[in-house]
Amino acid sequence: MSKGIQSVKGMNDLLPEDSGVWQFVETTIRATAAAYGYREIRTPIPERTELFKRGIGEATDIVEKEMFTWEDRGGDNLTLRPEMTASCVRAGIQHGLFHNQTQRIWYMGPMFRRERPQRGRYRQFHQFGIEAFGWTGAEIDAEVIVFGSRLWKALGITDIALELNTLGSDDTRAKYRDSLVAYLTEHQDVLDEDSQRRLKINPMRVLDSKNPAMQEMIEGAPSIIEFLDVDARSHFDALANYLAKVDIAFKVSPRLVRGLDYYTSTVFEWTTDKLGAQSAVCGGGRYDGLVESLGGRSTPGCGFALGMERLIELVKQSNPDLTGATPDVFVVNIGDSARTAAFGVSEQLREAGMSVVFAAGGGGIKSQMKQADRSGAAFAVILGDEEVANGTVAIKPLTTGEEQQTVPQEELQLALQKRLQ
Ligand code: HAM
Repeated sequence: MSKGIQSVKGMNDLLPEDSGVWQFVETTIRATAAAYGYREIRTPIPERTELFKRGIGEATDIVEKEMFTWEDRGGDNLTLRPEMTASCVRAGIQHGLFHNQTQRIWYMGPMFRRERPQRGRYRQFHQFGIEAFGWTGAEIDAEVIVFGSRLWKALGITDIALELNTLGSDDTRAKYRDSLVAYLTEHQDVLDEDSQRRLKINPMRVLDSKNPAMQEMIEGAPSIIEFLDVDARSHFDALANYLAKVDIAFKVSPRLVRGLDYYTSTVFEWTTDKLGAQSAVCGGGRYDGLVESLGGRSTPGCGFALGMERLIELVKQSNPDLTGATPDVFVVNIGDSARTAAFGVSEQLREAGMSVVFAAGGGGIKSQMKQADRSGAAFAVILGDEEVANGTVAIKPLTTGEEQQTVPQEELQLALQKRLQ
C-alpha cells in the first residue's frame, strides 16, 4: 500500500503531542522580550534573492549552496528567507524605522536552508531572534547577550556556554585579512576546492570550513585578537565588564568568525554538548555596516538568533515531564438524553471560564473514563440518564485520588470553581 504523500525532505510536521512544549517556550520567549522592551516584527517569508546575496555575502555557505531560490512567473528572482536579520534591515529601511530613532525588535518564524538534514539540522527550521538598531556602545552588545542568559534561566536550561570573540574594526579586519591570506597561501596544499576559491573572495570564510582534513591547519591560523586596535579593544573590554557585572561567564574563542559576512566587532555563540554534532543553539553579534550596505543611512545593529528546534530539545532534556496545557474538566455522558444535557453543561462551564473537553461520540463509561484520564483534565464531570432524571451530576477528581461526589446540577459550576482555585 502506498504511504501517501510525504512532507518535503528536511521539513517536519509539529504534532499535537509536541505543541505544548513549543507553546511553553514561545510564551516564555514573549515574556522575556517584553521584559527587555523588544517589540515584534513580522516580514514575508520570500524576499528578493538580491537581499540575501548582498546582506549575508556571496561567498558564504548559505548563499553559495543552501538557499531555496526560484524565478517567479513574473521573472523576479525570489528566495525563501534563510535568516531574518537581512529582512529586518530591509523592512527598517523601507519603513523609515532607522531615521533618528532606535529600535529593539524581535521575530519568530520558519527559515529555510538546503542543508543535509540530520539531528538538529533541518531544511525548514524555526528561529527566534532579536535585533537592536541605533546604538554603538558595548552596553547593547551586553544586553543582547544577557537577554539570552535570562531566557535559558527562565526555561530551566543549564548546559549552555557562551563563546565570545571580536572581529574588530574595518582596519583590524583589513590587517588580519593580509596576515590570514599569507598564512593560507602558505598552506594552499591543504585547502579544498571551496577554500581555494574563498581564499580569493573572502579568506575569513575559510575558517568556517567543516572539512576535517583542514581543521589542524585552521587551528594554527593567526588570531584576529592580535590585530585589534585601541577602539576595538576598549569596546571588547567594556563588554566584558558589563558581563562581569551580571555574573555572565564566557570563553574567548579567537577563531569564532560566524558564517555570515555582515558581522563587525562583537560576535558570540551559545553552545551545548547535549545535542550531538549541532552544538550551536544561538549565535549573533554586531553588524554596524549592514544597514548602509543595503541602501539605508549608516545605522549600527546588534542581535542574535536561536534555533527553536535545538532549544526545545534542550528544554525537553532539562524538563522531561513538561506537557502542554491540560483541560480543567472532561465531561463524560452515558446515554442519549444525558449526551444532550452534558453538551449544554459543557458550554455552561466554558461560559464560566473553564476549559472543557466534551466526550463526543459517547461510548461506555470505562472507555470515556480512560479518555478523561488521557486528557490530563483535573476533574471528570459525569452525567448518566439517572443523574439527568434526578437533576444531579457526579464530579470525580482525576489527579488527587479523592472520592467521587454527587452534587445538584445547579451547584456544579460553583463546586468546580472552588476545587479549581
Ligand atoms: P545563524 O548562526 O546562521 O545566525 O543561525 C542561528 C541559529 O539558528 C543557529 O545557532 C542554530 O541554532 C539555528 N539554525 C541554523 N541553521 C539551522 C538548521 N538548518 N536547522 C536547525 N537550526 C538551525 C543567523 O541566522 C543570524 N541571523 C543571527 C543574528 C541575528 N545575528 C545578528 N542578528
